[in-house]
This record gives sequence, structure tokens and C-alpha cells, in this order.
Amino acid sequence: MFKLISTGICCIVVTISLAGFSLFINNTAKQNSLVENQHKGKQINKQKQAHYNFQNRTVVVSNPESIPVLVNKQNKLPDGYVPKDLIFTQIPFVPTPADSEKREMRNEAAAAIKNLFDAAKAQGVNFLGVSAYRSEKTQISLFNTYVKRDGYLKARTYSALPGTSEHESGLAIDVTEGDGKCAAADCFSDSAEAKWLQEHAADYGFIIRYPKGKEAITGYQYEPWHLRYVGKKLAKEITSQGITLEEYYNAVKVNK
Ligand code: DAL
Ligand code: ZN
Repeated sequence: MFKLISTGICCIVVTISLAGFSLFINNTAKQNSLVENQHKGKQINKQKQAHYNFQNRTVVVSNPESIPVLVNKQNKLPDGYVPKDLIFTQIPFVPTPADSEKREMRNEAAAAIKNLFDAAKAQGVNFLGVSAYRSEKTQISLFNTYVKRDGYLKARTYSALPGTSEHESGLAIDVTEGDGKCAAADCFSDSAEAKWLQEHAADYGFIIRYPKGKEAITGYQYEPWHLRYVGKKLAKEITSQGITLEEYYNAVKVNK
């Protein structure tokens, strides 16, 4: 009888261990294939990338075309994703070639940013576009430039790994004040334009995506200039609650 019970227990332990081991192997294989496939920028240190993927359990979003899609350090766009309805925005930009992809956004977001710029202008507040859509190729080159300049870990606090930038979704735009002197710079936060955005961006469907004090949640430094289109209803809900898109989705914290 005792022998029978102990053999039974032994079988159960072996079965559980085998299942656990196979799950581990499976997960590791998945992580490795992500490391191989995720970012094609050869200059990105593979070890750090592997560490980052392991820490953050990056997954590919299943709804890249969805307007409120969550794109962040843990949720990436599919490899080579290009939004289908990109159009040139009809807003003024800092000096930028007329045919630059930076001027493009998805249809709905392009109309919304035009409305926002026009409404602000009518109230004496002037904006310029700095950078809207970025292809995966552009994001690779941009991220690598920042890594060379500031090192990988510092770059990670303000620039997204290719595939994880909202700019690649065609739903984000960096803006600046009318003279363009504080384009993507800290001094923008003190401008009348930044204050206007805090009060009115949501009325046009945009959120300030990387707010001050939420760095540990978004994984990025404060960026008062980075607007993300999510649609009016959601933008108003998120802004009135003083939360981030991560908190809205009740997503786990993003490590820096
Ligand atoms: N600066 C933001 C995080 C980006 O690179 O998309
Ligand atoms: Zn941005």
C-alpha cells in the first residue's frame, strides 16, 4: 500500500517537472525568436535586447489598425507594419521636405490634428508639426543614432526600439511652438502652447502620451510635445482621470 502511494506521488512529481521544463523551453524559444526577429538594427546590442525582451515580455499586438491600440515597450507592432491609410497632414511644419513621411498620419488622426491646429490658431496659439509618421526603417536609424550619442540605456528612456514607437502607427505626432525653438526640447514644457495642449488636446482626440510623474508607468521621460491620437471619447476619459494609456488598459508597469 505504502509502495503504491509513494510510486503515485513520484509519478505526479515527475509529470509536473516535465511539464514545467517544457513550458520553460517553449517560452525561451519564443523569447529567442523575438530577439532574432524583433529589431533588424544591427547596431543594437543583442544582449541588451534579449535582457529587455525578457524583462518586458514583448508581444506583438493583434490589432495594429485599431485607433486606440496600445503600443509601448511591451506591445510592439508587427514587423514591417505600415498603416494602410497614411495621408499628408495639412498643417504647418518646422522646415521639412514637402514629401517627407514625417508629415504623414493616418487619415483620422491627420484630420484631427488639423482641427487642433486650426482651433489653437483661432485662439492665438500657434503650433508647428515636428515629426509624425516614421517607418520602421527610420525608427531603426533614429534609435541607432541615439544609442551612438548617449548609449543604449539612456536612449531607451526617450526613444523607442523599432517596432515599439507610436510614430510607426501613424497615430502620433511631435509638435512645437510657433517659432520652433523648443522642438522636442524641455523648454517646450513652459510654453503657452504646452499649457494649451494640457487643457484642450483631448477635445480633438489626443492625449499627452508621456506625462510628467508617470515615467515609471510609460517607461519614457516626460514628453509634453508627443501627442497620440486615440479618439475624442477615450482622450477625454484618460485626460479627465489623469491616467496613461497603460493605466487605462490596466497593463503591467513598463520597466525603463
Ligand atoms: N520618443 C518616443 C518614445 C518614441 O521614440 O516613439
Ligand atoms: Zn514623439
